[in-house]
Amino acid sequence: MAKVEALKLASDHLREPLASELENDEAHFSNGAVQILKFHGSYQQTNRDQRQRDWTMMLRLRSPGGRVPAQLYLALDQLADRYGNGTLRATTRQTFQLHGIPKQDLRTVLGTIVRNLGSTLAACGDINRNVMAPAAPYATGGYPAARRLADDVAALLTPRAALGAYLDLWVDGDMAYRLRPTPRVRTVNRQPAPGAVHSGDEQEPLYGNRYLPRKFKVGVTVPGDNSIDVLTQDLGLVVFTDAIGRLSGANVYVGGGMGRTHNKEDTFARTGDPLGYVQGRQVLALVKAVVALQRDHGDRQSRRHARLKYLLHDRGMDWFKASLPHYFHGDVRPLRKESARRLEHYLGWQRQGDGLWFVGLPVMTGRVAGPLKDTLRELVQRYQLELRVTPNQDILLCGIAPSQKRDVQDRLDAIGLQQSAMGEPTASHGIACPALPTCGLAITESERIFPDVLARFDALRQSLGIHQPLLVRMTGCPNGCSRPYMAEVGLVGSAAGHYQLWLGGAPGLTTLARPVLDRLPLAQSRGYGRHRTGWRTGISIPGLTGIGGAPSFQQLGHGWTIPYSRACPCPPWSTKAGRSKPDPRFVNPSPHHQLDSQRPCADHQVIEAAASSSPG
Ligand code: HEM
Ligand code: SF4
Repeated sequence: MAKVEALKLASDHLREPLASELENDEAHFSNGAVQILKFHGSYQQTNRDQRQRDWTMMLRLRSPGGRVPAQLYLALDQLADRYGNGTLRATTRQTFQLHGIPKQDLRTVLGTIVRNLGSTLAACGDINRNVMAPAAPYATGGYPAARRLADDVAALLTPRAALGAYLDLWVDGDMAYRLRPTPRVRTVNRQPAPGAVHSGDEQEPLYGNRYLPRKFKVGVTVPGDNSIDVLTQDLGLVVFTDAIGRLSGANVYVGGGMGRTHNKEDTFARTGDPLGYVQGRQVLALVKAVVALQRDHGDRQSRRHARLKYLLHDRGMDWFKASLPHYFHGDVRPLRKESARRLEHYLGWQRQGDGLWFVGLPVMTGRVAGPLKDTLRELVQRYQLELRVTPNQDILLCGIAPSQKRDVQDRLDAIGLQQSAMGEPTASHGIACPALPTCGLAITESERIFPDVLARFDALRQSLGIHQPLLVRMTGCPNGCSRPYMAEVGLVGSAAGHYQLWLGGAPGLTTLARPVLDRLPLAQSRGYGRHRTGWRTGISIPGLTGIGGAPSFQQLGHGWTIPYSRACPCPPWSTKAGRSKPDPRFVNPSPHHQLDSQRPCADHQVIEAAASSSPG
């Protein structure tokens, strides 16, 4: 049995050895406790800028649809200053993270979050993660139904026994803070379900005592609004509503996921497959069924191969559809037609539709610090405003009365967030994962150099007279926490200061990008801070035109479709010969062209030299 599987099994529903180790004076947890700690919403980390290991904890909240009430936000703001590194981070999965919490303060910090009606349960670990939904608090259209469904899914997939362990550990078992199921969830849980849905563990009926083979992600949205990157979710739901906004059903997509490993061709980013349309009253039963199916059939031997996407890839949609009736007795009909998908940002001032306003604030890499943090605290304190975190790491201040608008904008003006600086992004925009110094898996920088990277893209765009926004996403390793494989330009850390370059995702987040370069040298990351030397070489027109003949930077932007067949991920022009026309061989792929593999095949290894010899 894989090591993590054995740890979960022996943990008494995610209690031990964490509970015991919380009582000792060590500055850090053992590896076993670290695995269980994840399910409680925390990663153990060290500051990789320091030579000496100083252990601290990252804490991640669960906040379906990115909703963070005023009371909770104010508590987080204070906790970050008192126990953390003085910043909050709006994440790409619509929640906040705190960094730098010492082990001895973990109970105080986590307990304070729970007492302020927040939770970190299942924010990490092999379980359903934070449920995404459009962040905008629109009171009209399908939005309220999408938000309600996200709340229902989050409640439905809350672990039962682990919730007991969670409350025992962090608030002395005070059941007043248990996450209560919504009425719709209570109804579904009372209805008889196909026998296969039950795990066989009475205490943890859905998950069982080993929980899921790997993380599981659900996103809910409305047709046309792809702010949540619906095709990257294990389970994506696009809701349809009737004339008065009640849920009538949902298009269902399964098997999306971003994480991959460099040089491991059997790991890859994948977009979800359409399963079909399910009627409103059956949607929650379907959600449970898909989770149970993955629980039983997901790979528990190899964690690298354990996500639902590999099940779909290996066994195919026909197998999935044939297996589903063991878990789900409802109807799966053909997909309903959806309007074209757009990445909505909700920046600037907008009406909610209930007499109130919200304002969307662009937050570079989601990092809330300094004057922005002070201003948010003051505004939330003064007007008791609710916050919503967007999947783009931005923040919406919600529920603003017309009479409060002027004062709110004045305070935003004071920190450089003039009305004209908000609105739809007109420059390069994007998201970046934290990477160094906190993330133990980072190969290179992401968040800390991202502003520079965007500035360079903007300079290049301007010099080329390109006015459309360009979607750039960056990570410090191939795990893909900022979903770089869907971006128009994806930069994925591949070595110190080097990035794999992915191009060709669509602005509406509808297609996967493709790898073009393995090691684009972007930044001198060593000695960041003290000896920062800036760009060694960089993105430049010669650098890009040097890549096997990609004719111009303009091709990075809009309207660029790659003329390759599905059989090989290599764009036809990425050959040593600099081919610029589709290669006829790809129409009849040879066996070495691996379907769905995201690595270029041997014939199409890109020329690293093209970039490394480009001028800085
Ligand atoms: C597959 C293996 C993955 C591993 C081992 C992994 C691990 C981690 C770690 C250690 C962090 C904490 C970084 C820090 O706070 O310093 C993190 C952050 C995060 N990860 Fe992952 N991750 C993986 C894949 C993904 C994927 C595919 C997504 C979503 C597409 C994702 C979403 C996130 C989010 C939202 C954060 C919060 C930071 C942010 O704002 O970007 N992760 N991940
Ligand atoms: S993408 Fe890699 S470096 Fe970035 S946060 Fe995720 S695991 Fe860390």
